[in-house]
Amino acid sequence: MESLVSAFKLQAQWCYGLGSPLYGALLERCAADLRSRRGPLGALLAPHGDDPPESALALRLMAAVHRLALAGEAPALARHYPSCGGDGDAIAAWAAFSNVIAAEQPMLHRGLLEPVQTNEVSRAAALLGGFLMLAARFGRPLRLLELGASAGFLLRWDKYRYRAGEWTWGPPSSPVCLDEHFADATLPFNSEALPVAIAERRGCDLAPIDATSEAGSVRLRSFVWADQRDRLARLDAACSVARSVAATVDRADAPAWLAEKLAEPSPGTVTIVFHAVVMQYLSKNCQTIVDAILARAGEHATSDAPLARLSLEPRSGPNVVLQLWPSGEEIGLARASLHGGDVTWQV
Ligand SMILES: C[S@@+](CC[C@H](N)C(=O)[O-])C[C@H]1O[C@@H](n2cnc3c(N)ncnc32)[C@H](O)[C@@H]1O
Repeated sequence: MESLVSAFKLQAQWCYGLGSPLYGALLERCAADLRSRRGPLGALLAPHGDDPPESALALRLMAAVHRLALAGEAPALARHYPSCGGDGDAIAAWAAFSNVIAAEQPMLHRGLLEPVQTNEVSRAAALLGGFLMLAARFGRPLRLLELGASAGFLLRWDKYRYRAGEWTWGPPSSPVCLDEHFADATLPFNSEALPVAIAERRGCDLAPIDATSEAGSVRLRSFVWADQRDRLARLDAACSVARSVAATVDRADAPAWLAEKLAEPSPGTVTIVFHAVVMQYLSKNCQTIVDAILARAGEHATSDAPLARLSLEPRSGPNVVLQLWPSGEEIGLARASLHGGDVTWQV
């Protein structure tokens, strides 16, 4: 139980830090409830005591409860969830939240089995520099292969509008506009080398979400923190882009899928394997296999069939990193929040 309490406290701090005071406060109260062993949460989470930390139990719980509120099955809680038109009052929300936990145990037991699939279209802002750098350097169409693509929003990164000060990139009419994501008013990328041609948009996920369906969009909304209305608005805009730009997300485990996709070089294109906030959900063994597959494919990369790995993952220092083959370069491109904001270029 102590490790669950610590995990919930830690997640509360992350939520506060990433701009969700409502979830920060609710998760703190969850931690206190678990510690007291008197509330209904302990019984609900008892079967999950040994779940691996990377399965993010606290976020699975928040999403399962949010789904009930979004579906109209927790109206008292919805009154305090801004995503449902509520007031964001954390104290009042906790009373309603704990009532939901007590009253909806069978539904929540099922909801907890759903993996975390937080899609954040803003992460495209953090990856943008890598894509533009590769397009400018090689002048070839980009073959996009995304690990843990979920709904595939990042596979459509070139269909969004970006702005930093006077600098802009992307279709001006895009419903997705990422304009508060860059710490600097100028960006170290040359937009004259563009537009960018995309040869393929393909990803894999253990549980792909169809962003073009109603059920898919409710599911996607459930993973957004309920007081973050700007993220919800961006998500809705990204769903509308998804309805007009096709991207395939295969239901597959990342290592096997990647091995198949990289089995043969792809001459005339730049193959970009990318991932954003995915590695923490893979076991250490899976991560090692992914590294090995890329290293092996890198040995066969040529100037006519270059290979790149672009990632946004938790790590100290630059956490937007570009690896390139055949040159073997590794470039720390930027430091960015894991939701894609505060992008500070390091190049
Ligand atoms: C936090 S989401 C990130 C989604 C997307 N990259 C984004 O930034 O919007 C992590 C995704 O990784 C997927 N995932 C976890 N383990 C996986 C695996 N072994 N193979 C493929 N996908 C996996 C999950 O299903 C989930 O959709």
